[in-house]
Amino acid sequence: MNKEMIIVLDFGGQYNQLIARRVRECNVYAEVWPYTKSLDEIKAANPKGIIFTGGPNSVYDEASPHYEKAIFNLGIPILGICYGSQLVAWTLGGEVKTAPVSEYGRTQVMLEGVKSTLLRHVSKKTSVWMSHTDYIAKAPEGFVVTSHTKDCPVASMENKERKIYATQFHPEVMHTEEGQTMLRNFVLDICECKGDWRMDSFVQNKIAEIREKVGDGKVLLALSGGVDSSVAAVMLSKAVGKQLTCVFVDQGLLRKDEGDEVEAIFGPQGAYDLNFIRVNAAERFYEKLKGVEEPERKRKIIGEEFIRVFEEEAKKIGAVDFLAQGTIYPDVIESGLGKSAVIKSHHNVGGLPDYVDFKEIIEPLRMLFKDEVRRAGLELGLPEKLVFRQPFPGPGLGVRIVGEVTAEKVKIVQEADAIFREEVANATGIRQPNQYFAALSNMRSVGVMGDFRTYDYAVVLRAVNTSDFMTADCTDIPFAVLQKTMNRIINEVKGVNRVMYDLTSKPPGTIELE
Ligand code: XMP
Repeated sequence: MNKEMIIVLDFGGQYNQLIARRVRECNVYAEVWPYTKSLDEIKAANPKGIIFTGGPNSVYDEASPHYEKAIFNLGIPILGICYGSQLVAWTLGGEVKTAPVSEYGRTQVMLEGVKSTLLRHVSKKTSVWMSHTDYIAKAPEGFVVTSHTKDCPVASMENKERKIYATQFHPEVMHTEEGQTMLRNFVLDICECKGDWRMDSFVQNKIAEIREKVGDGKVLLALSGGVDSSVAAVMLSKAVGKQLTCVFVDQGLLRKDEGDEVEAIFGPQGAYDLNFIRVNAAERFYEKLKGVEEPERKRKIIGEEFIRVFEEEAKKIGAVDFLAQGTIYPDVIESGLGKSAVIKSHHNVGGLPDYVDFKEIIEPLRMLFKDEVRRAGLELGLPEKLVFRQPFPGPGLGVRIVGEVTAEKVKIVQEADAIFREEVANATGIRQPNQYFAALSNMRSVGVMGDFRTYDYAVVLRAVNTSDFMTADCTDIPFAVLQKTMNRIINEVKGVNRVMYDLTSKPPGTIELE
């Protein structure tokens, strides 16, 4: 496995993961590595090609991330993108300066008409995504300029003999219309990869690998019912059957009927060969959350309590050899330039359990992106409904109830959310939002029902379209659907006298209310 690999060397670019995904879409395995990895480590990995990412710095600043020149003498093809292209130029003796005109957004690029493998089959004039304030003023000796824009004399360049390529624009971004052709040219033609990275072989190899590693040992997995831990559970169960125990903690913050749905799939009536333990711990979580209003504290309490419950179950099982986790690649990618500001702590669990007696961790999905995890799930025969489930935060409804969490509020959100989901699913001809749910504001207001005054909660409906969950737009749900949802919630859910639709995009809002 992984015989052919492309290393995406990260210099702090915001699209580092996207580059790796695009390469994998060419059926070539790619990993993102921080630029701090040594040349010896790179050599040892024996990659078929290396891609330098973009980044926010200026190469001519001493403090900016650089890489030793010897990397260009390995004979391994290199593609520099944006900052990466400037790094190629600067390191090899070209000239990089602040551009008189910075380019940002969709830009027309004109090919010079020279023969270029990187730009093979690309139109003479094509739309690319630019985002730069510096530019390559002069290509290094031995390089041929292969395209330019109105304001950028070196939009791409190459040294064919040394197999070094550079683009000022971002081929990985969707707005670069022929970007995938360029990346394909790089990995398949220039790096000479075969393009035989496939999900079915990944799954089969992984199962065999787990079987070999685990031997006759015992494995313990915390199963949340989300896509990642479910796919991990099935993969492990196919590898080691009953040597696997899955602990499912129902913290009382799941969507309506979700606990039973998870049990139906993985429990004794389900199709998989594994030991399933369900812990109903709702009361315990509500008790801990009593009086707590601050969102980050709620997250922390839920994460920690989860670990405590899990530990207690693990103690009953006794020593295990392996602790399995559904960690996926975006969780483990180490950025070239460290972490950006924490807006919300998204970790589902507050670290590793301290008191579980295990020898080693297994993370079968560690190298997969989310869409690849879904493909693996389908490959393993998991139901589509589960595989394409919309994201659900680790702290569950805990972050969909503004302020203090109580059993009463949880019940309201569960009911309202089920109605909203049902109405959206039944609505015809609408674009399915990428994430949508009901939340509970902490507001109570006066209303009238029949002849009585009410003083009840306001439910907030939220639906967004997004491709990466970093930015999002409110979904344009037809008014009639919203109105019907509102009617049903008011009539069917006790304790609610107002329903609101949240129109805010992200930014400035976030997707969840907390
Ligand atoms: P925000 O609210 O930050 O959400 O715009 C972006 C995506 O992340 C999910 N989310 C979380 N997921 N633990 C998680 O596992 C969390 O604490 C958490 N908070 C938000 C959210 O559902 C959305 O998909």
